[in-house]
Amino acid sequence: MSNTLHAPHLVEVPQAIPEKAYTTERVGISRQTHDEHLKLWQGYANKTNEIRKALAEMEIDPSKGNQIYSQMRALKANYAFAYGGLINHNVYFSTIGGQGGEATGAVARLIESAYGSFERWVADWKTTGMAGRGWAYLGYDHEEGRVHNYMGDAQDTFPAWNNTLLLAMDVYEHAYYLDFQTARMKYIEAYMQVIDWDAVNVRLSAVTG
Ligand SMILES: [Fe+2]
Repeated sequence: MSNTLHAPHLVEVPQAIPEKAYTTERVGISRQTHDEHLKLWQGYANKTNEIRKALAEMEIDPSKGNQIYSQMRALKANYAFAYGGLINHNVYFSTIGGQGGEATGAVARLIESAYGSFERWVADWKTTGMAGRGWAYLGYDHEEGRVHNYMGDAQDTFPAWNNTLLLAMDVYEHAYYLDFQTARMKYIEAYMQVIDWDAVNVRLSAVTG
């Protein structure tokens, strides 16, 4: 068994906000908010790569793993925050800039099956968005073949295994303070009008065939 250094696989750092996302200006989520947000999105990608490099380059000695503090502990705990932050922003920016309104296609059927009606799902989603400190997540649960709204205080809380992220609503203040100050519900109401359900269905069909 060899314990040698190896070249890490790196993520692509986002270079621009998808043009479609800027159409959220029509509901008050501004271009400036997205442009500032891009810097944070890039930060998650850059830190993901930094941690991957550190892991690939470190001298790994199992006797040094320590649950109170150790290099491995710091790298692994922050990896979940960094990579999770890249993925949830990937989903956030690829699923806004649509027409919002009622869900369509296969995801609409899954939402109705899980929540009884779209209205009930909306109520749950908005309330989850107000209850979380950072995110609301719509996950497709491969165990049950159903969707569920998860709450996130951050990207490393509180997901469940074996879910595919279909929709991610950023409710950190940086996502709305510039446009709505502390009125998070106003931002959520605006967000509901720009969900791109086609993009959500593309994500769903990629994992359900
Ligand atoms: Fe964000």
